[in-house]
Amino acid sequence: MDPSILFVDHASDVGGAELSLLDTAMHWAAPLHVALMQPGPFRDLLRDQGVPSTLVEAGEAVLGVRRGGGWDQGLRAAAGIPRLAHQLARLAKGYDVVYANTQKSLIVGGPAAWLAGRPLVWHLHDILSAEHFSAMNRRLPVLVANRFCARVIANSAATAEAFVREGGDPDLVGVVPNGFSRAPFERDSDEEVAELRRRLGLEGKPLAGMFGRLAPWKGQHVFIRAVAAVPGLHAVIVGGALFGEQVYEEELKLLCAELGVRDRVHFLGFRRDIPRLMRMMTLIVHASTAAEPFGRVLVEAMLAGSPLIASRAGGALEIVEDGVTGRLVAPGSVAELRAAMARILAEPGEAAAMADRARRAAVANFSTEVMIDGIRREIGRILPAPEPGPLAGGRGSSTAISG
Ligand code: UDP
Ligand code: GLC
Repeated sequence: MDPSILFVDHASDVGGAELSLLDTAMHWAAPLHVALMQPGPFRDLLRDQGVPSTLVEAGEAVLGVRRGGGWDQGLRAAAGIPRLAHQLARLAKGYDVVYANTQKSLIVGGPAAWLAGRPLVWHLHDILSAEHFSAMNRRLPVLVANRFCARVIANSAATAEAFVREGGDPDLVGVVPNGFSRAPFERDSDEEVAELRRRLGLEGKPLAGMFGRLAPWKGQHVFIRAVAAVPGLHAVIVGGALFGEQVYEEELKLLCAELGVRDRVHFLGFRRDIPRLMRMMTLIVHASTAAEPFGRVLVEAMLAGSPLIASRAGGALEIVEDGVTGRLVAPGSVAELRAAMARILAEPGEAAAMADRARRAAVANFSTEVMIDGIRREIGRILPAPEPGPLAGGRGSSTAISG
């Protein structure tokens, strides 16, 4: 039987790391619980899916630490950690493993797991490089991981390598890619997909889709510039300005006006019908300007059977085979992206064959089963072999929680 898990996540919004936690929780065959530090859409989503969660009170100082923040932010946050760690430790005593899903939850989960006498696993979803994080936000998690973690699960080899480059203990880390269920990508009929296109007023137009939260490093500005250079092509941008990126959203809209493409760029905001939207696209673009740690949207585009173009860096190199299952372009290059989109539009037969190979590769390599087996394997390395006994538990049936 799987060990029981207390997951810890600090986010209120639903990013890829949170969706990965949800997918794991939905398929984990033992009691589990999620400790969150703030209410919001992620907590609502867990509730809707029947995953139990508890709010622990993190102060502003802990939640206010930014990716680019310095040691002063870290020191201010430190004052709030003991109280939070004690709250979490009380919860943790009811579970076999504490599973930190973000850097902030690692910093608090480390001492909490130690206080509770439980092993700590950190699921590292980010590339700890200067492109993404300040020195403080790279070094502190690595120090805490080396001191407190029994295991670090990286979402790609690129993520694992960056951890080790920053001084992380190589013996701690194992790679487990995100896993996906193919069912949502096969559920809708072609008629339902066509109906969505009609409802959005996008019938009969070639559509380039981009999916993901609006953030400068996700490269929506590169995408808009490249679409502007392909006559007649419409861009559909799906995703909200999560994690405080509202200024960037305004900048993108100004850019569209400046380039004269407001009528060809459609912002749909955050959506829950990603599979249907992806199937609606003529092609899908990933345009991150910094190395993507994994890139859930890449696998989702492949499962949707839409031709894919991705930035040649990070996790994309482990997911997309250039010219076989998609096209890779230099990160930030408007010219290469424009050329790759134009080629897919000019060679639909070649693009369809590529998308078909991609779909089969995604089903084979990035299934939920592969992910759950990987997580089970990594956790299995740190726990004693279970004693034989009657099977019990199941999703959501949490064990006693004290405090
Ligand atoms: N997503 C979503 N609605 C949106 C935009 C994105 O549900 O409007 C999902 C998307 O399908 C993917 C995740 O958010 O599963 C983003 O994960 P990814 O790994 O691509 O990027 P992250 O935001 O985690 O860096
Ligand atoms: C993070 C990364 C993203 C990855 C996701 C799930 O949010 O930015 O690349 O796919 O976690 O592991």
